[in-house]
Amino acid sequence: MKSVLFSRFFILLPWILIVIIMLDVDTRRPAPPLTPRPYFSPYAVGRPQPQPEPPLPTIYAITPTYSRPVQKAELTRLANTFRQVAQLHWILVEDAAARSELVSRFLARAGLPSTHLHVPTPRRYKRPGLPRATEQRNAGLAWLSQRHQHQRAQPGVLFFADDDNTYSLELFQEMRTTRKVSVWPVGLVGGRRYERPLVENGKVVGWYTGWRADRPFAIDMAGFAVSLQVILSNPKAVFKRRGSQPGMQESDFLKQITTVEELEPKASNCTKVLVWHTRTEKVNLANEPKYHLDTVKIEV
Ligand code: UGA
Ligand code: MN
Repeated sequence: MKSVLFSRFFILLPWILIVIIMLDVDTRRPAPPLTPRPYFSPYAVGRPQPQPEPPLPTIYAITPTYSRPVQKAELTRLANTFRQVAQLHWILVEDAAARSELVSRFLARAGLPSTHLHVPTPRRYKRPGLPRATEQRNAGLAWLSQRHQHQRAQPGVLFFADDDNTYSLELFQEMRTTRKVSVWPVGLVGGRRYERPLVENGKVVGWYTGWRADRPFAIDMAGFAVSLQVILSNPKAVFKRRGSQPGMQESDFLKQITTVEELEPKASNCTKVLVWHTRTEKVNLANEPKYHLDTVKIEV
């Protein structure tokens, strides 16, 4: 009797195991999606069909940069941000008589669509109290116009991205939808925690600033973006050396392409800071050796 029971048990055992395994496999199948996949019926003629996504406007970031001990560190921070932004083209303009090896090598490894330009600031303009990066930003503008000279302009947005500021990724989402000229607050600037455009009923009506409130556009270079279309239809709009003062470059440029009434407020009606006008401390190199140099030459 005992042996009959045993033999029955061993005959049934594999079947029991098979059933257990099959039940287990079935419960591991992925659950069906919560939203059903669209079903394209051949009879659905005339119904709205899903449209292909329109292309993302390209963000062109013009960055003037110059040689100094912190340059590579600044560019590294910037590239780490830009690499996370879709469809961004970096226009890096060196304030130099030629493209430097450091920047060329850096860009080649940055993993970003980029253009490397250079133009030196004339010696007479390299003085404290004079505006910086005028020639470099103009070189970036000229490149943009040149590139789009013959083809119909694809959607694009231009933004002046100094190499020492700090940019949140949200900022790029905001500026991407610029129709003509968009504006937003900038943190740590103008002797205040922030400056911002004042907005009423969706329009810019003034400026919250602690410095030269008489500026027509009391905004830092990091506080606005311009559509490519506006840039291309205003080829004469450039940064000027003659008669320009520091802090007035933004106003002098914006005056040529837009009006305050036309500005598009971003960042929740200009109530969020998404970019900071950080400035890097000058490094202390007091202990750099003049003799007994290191045995290897290292790029920093
Ligand atoms: C402020 C504004 O934020 C700048 O946009 C403006 O150009 C500048 O004032 C000005 O006075 O013209 P700030 O932090 O004082 O900025 O200026 P920097 O960050 O020293 O320079 C602005 C950009 O120009 C940087 O990307 C920097 O690398 C570049 N630069 C600066 C040069 O290409 N050459 C220089 O000799 C100095
Ligand atoms: Mn700066």
